[in-house]
Amino acid sequence: MADGFAVQGKDGPLEFTAEVEAATAGIWDKVKHHVTPMEWRVQAPLIAEINRLKREKNAAILAHNYMTPDIFHGVGDFVGDSLALAREAAKSDATIIVQAGVHFMAETSKVLSPDKKILIPDLKAGCSLASSITGADVALIKQRYPGVPVVTYVNTTADVKAQTDICCTSANAVQVVEWAAKEWGTDKVILIPDEFLARNVARQTDVKIIAWAGHCEVHKRFTASDIADMRAAWPGAEVLAHPECPAEILEAADFAGSTAAMNDYVAARKPAQVVLITECSMASNVQAESPATQFIGPCNMCPHMKRITLQNIHDALVFEQFEVTVDPEIADRARLAVQRMIDLPPPVVPARYDLVKARHHVDVELI
Ligand code: 13P
Ligand code: SF4
Repeated sequence: MADGFAVQGKDGPLEFTAEVEAATAGIWDKVKHHVTPMEWRVQAPLIAEINRLKREKNAAILAHNYMTPDIFHGVGDFVGDSLALAREAAKSDATIIVQAGVHFMAETSKVLSPDKKILIPDLKAGCSLASSITGADVALIKQRYPGVPVVTYVNTTADVKAQTDICCTSANAVQVVEWAAKEWGTDKVILIPDEFLARNVARQTDVKIIAWAGHCEVHKRFTASDIADMRAAWPGAEVLAHPECPAEILEAADFAGSTAAMNDYVAARKPAQVVLITECSMASNVQAESPATQFIGPCNMCPHMKRITLQNIHDALVFEQFEVTVDPEIADRARLAVQRMIDLPPPVVPARYDLVKARHHVDVELI
């Protein structure tokens, strides 16, 4: 079965043998609507080799929902939203964790598991939210609002988390904000750096929100007219939106929640047609469990998530590159903020945003 498409492994070409084909048949079944047979002859040997290397090195791959289907279904040991991956990093007994996601996620894993080797296949896999704010900015914010608790979205550097009282993700942001207000005995909370998440959370709670003007470059590009166009063309389609989108998107959606909440919604309701207002790979990954659902655009690609490939995951495992480290003193302080979030009771299901509340304008103070 050897052919001219073989990719190079550590000890020679990785070929699409009958053995590889049999070992990856179950994965092929999940990705065959998104991968051509020609691509599969290159991907399957890499997947088989990555899975062998994981066993050899006691490594685990934590793959975010925005990974391409070959990674998500082929090599991810744990797949999910940011909250689920953070929880998994804390309890995994692997010696090496390869973060199939972006740099802040790898830093979070290192903060929670300082004794493990945390690898990211491409050090340039960043995030527009994480780069919108620094630890020094947060120190100044705290001086300006003494006594007001600081909640930071996990999409931040360890340096920022180290200045923070508690972290949140889109799956638990309302719960965390309300916890912080009660714990600090205040009616105000600083929720940074995602302005749109902050505005969407402000509509779900009586707690007053102070926000920062950071944005996800993927979700900020959607507009309400995108949804109006989709509804005109596909009147029966259900529209699901991520809370990193501007508030006008949630106003026009049928459902809003984290990537895991969107996944659960489609798996449970099996809508005939669905629009996922989020990163493009979500639809491809969710489709494997809901083959009868028709997934309709629009979607936007995250250029940072897309830096992670099967080839660089393979190289990460072979050469144990690129190791992500966090200054121990910063890690100790950041851990308090992440651990506080993890110690809150896990949501029974990833939180859904109440879309009746989402349609009522609430003022937010922008720093
Ligand atoms: P969640 O998976 O927590 O919904 O986050 C989405 C995201 O943009 C991660 O970078
Ligand atoms: Fe950051 Fe947005 Fe990409 Fe997530 S999708 S990594 S928030 S830029």
